[in-house]
Amino acid sequence: MIQKKIILNESDMPTQWYNIIPDIPNGVAPPLDPETKEPMRPEKLAPIFPMGLLEQEMSDQSWIDIPEEVQEIYHIWRPSPLVRANKLEEALGTKAKIFFKYEGISPSGSHKSNSAVAQAYYNKKEGVKRLATETGAGQWGSALSFACHKFGLECKVYMVRISFDQKPYRKSMMNTYGAEIVASPSPDTNIGRKILKSHPGTAGSLGIAISEAVEDAASRDDTKYALGSVLNHVIHHQTIIGLEAKKQMEIAGEYPDVLIGCCGGGSNFAGLAAPFLTDKLEGKNLRMVGVEPASCPTLTKGLLAYDFGDVARTTPLLYMYTLGHDFIPPGIHAGGLRYHGMSPIISAMVREKIIEPISVHQLECFEAGVLFAQTEGIIPAPETCHAIRAAIIEATRDKNEPKTILFNFSGHGLLDLSSYDRFFAGDLHDYDFPEEDIAKATKNLPKI
Ligand SMILES: Cc1ncc(COP(=O)(O)O)c(C=O)c1O
Repeated sequence: MIQKKIILNESDMPTQWYNIIPDIPNGVAPPLDPETKEPMRPEKLAPIFPMGLLEQEMSDQSWIDIPEEVQEIYHIWRPSPLVRANKLEEALGTKAKIFFKYEGISPSGSHKSNSAVAQAYYNKKEGVKRLATETGAGQWGSALSFACHKFGLECKVYMVRISFDQKPYRKSMMNTYGAEIVASPSPDTNIGRKILKSHPGTAGSLGIAISEAVEDAASRDDTKYALGSVLNHVIHHQTIIGLEAKKQMEIAGEYPDVLIGCCGGGSNFAGLAAPFLTDKLEGKNLRMVGVEPASCPTLTKGLLAYDFGDVARTTPLLYMYTLGHDFIPPGIHAGGLRYHGMSPIISAMVREKIIEPISVHQLECFEAGVLFAQTEGIIPAPETCHAIRAAIIEATRDKNEPKTILFNFSGHGLLDLSSYDRFFAGDLHDYDFPEEDIAKATKNLPKI
């Protein structure tokens, strides 16, 4: 019988995060101060981030110890299982072996908890009382709400309007963990009020919600800001996924030919892929495929340039693939993939041709998600459906090729069922972002 799951003992959970930056050929460009266009000094970001996280953001050390308090909370769900999707393989009639790392097992339902717990810990340690954040799909907001409660912090979540309306139970979940939630753009911030006036009825975007959360944090002494993706420290925290997966693949007696992950800001895919990079650089035949929606094609159609991470131009300038900071993507159902930018780490790996980016459409992703649910039993988040779709493309390109595929199952979709309902009702549509709109969206990039 096929071994279905590889489970590590708690004592086998990694006790260090990996920092991939020193190993990326030609490095990762530093964030710039928008005023001086010089590399950002950490002190300048101190009003919104704790020094512990800023040190990690700028670190050139390859390994970072995971504090015991964080490890203890990780043990609620980690190590997460590595699962062989043999029932999906059978349904596809492929000789490929498909494995997935099941991050949907965390309390809030996704990989986001890996960084949320770490961020709450470092803020608590430095005396912060309250965190402000954005959330797209609601997964990050739920994860941070849970993490804040664990460390006795208050939490305010600005949730992108369209997800706020589509996913009312995410709000219930965040309330259960004791957080305060508001739809973004909101009347609670200057930027929110301005956008509500100029774009009444807007679906919102992650770029707007980030601006609101940063403004909130910058305007209060007791509050700092937490970001659920994109930044280097978030990606370091997520490497626990790949570090565990590598051990588990070894136990399974396998090595992946292809690694796959969906890309919103890049954290779940970078977290899975990072610990495999040195093998690839040493000549291992390993492909890394990052999947994004065709309606928000940051890596496949965006520009590699310095840009702001938010609409209000409050963040440092990041060197990344971008569709322009004032790009408002169409309201596709994978809310966590509706972001104009991409992490500088993933961007550098695409630039170096280490990662192959691809884009897929919404409907084929939901079809893949339904097939996965019917074969493997777990209903995937719409974001995760993108990774599953890419795994299916890889496994069926030549069904007789015996390759090994490993994808990151970033989150479950149990609070995304209204999106599945709309898919079944035929209300969802594919959308290709037109080239001329991309040219328009990127014309306001800052001049460096
Ligand atoms: C389940 C899930 N997967 C993936 C993503 C994309 O984010 P990232 O690319 O940072 O992993 C999100 C973001 O909200 C998410 O909720």
